[in-house]
Amino acid sequence: MKKLFALLALAGLAHGAQAAEVVGKAKDAADKKIAMCIGCHAIPGYKASFPEVFQVPMIGGQSAKYIEAALKAYQKGERKNPTMRGIAGSLTEQDIADLAAYYSQQK
Ligand code: HEC
Repeated sequence: MKKLFALLALAGLAHGAQAAEVVGKAKDAADKKIAMCIGCHAIPGYKASFPEVFQVPMIGGQSAKYIEAALKAYQKGERKNPTMRGIAGSLTEQDIADLAAYYSQQK
């Protein structure tokens, strides 16, 4: 059992080291991740109706840094929007980097 824990700890360390250099690849995001976002963010003038009516901001063309920072702020609860909090909470650091890369390349 102890061995298993040691292995898990090692795996955790390896994962942490990997996370330090997360590089966003727009193509990875385009494949599947944006499927979660286009419903709200790609409809001009669309207003999300739950739980209140929010104007959904355009994120295409924003800088990658801005998108990344916003998603992490939702994740940590620094920005309080129930919808985005839930969505950002389900993203990994790699997802965020990919999505930021994708949207920053949009016009
Ligand atoms: C159910 C609708 C909905 C979905 C789905 C959704 N968003 Fe959002 N998003 C919103 C709303 C509404 C806001 C504005 C919230 C606020 O006022 O803080 C927002 C805000 C944002 C912001 C901050 C924009 C700014 O200008 O500050 C980013 C970045 C963002 N969303 C990215 C994403 C990404 C990436 C996805 C997919 C993984 C996604 N959103 C999915 C509704 C949605």
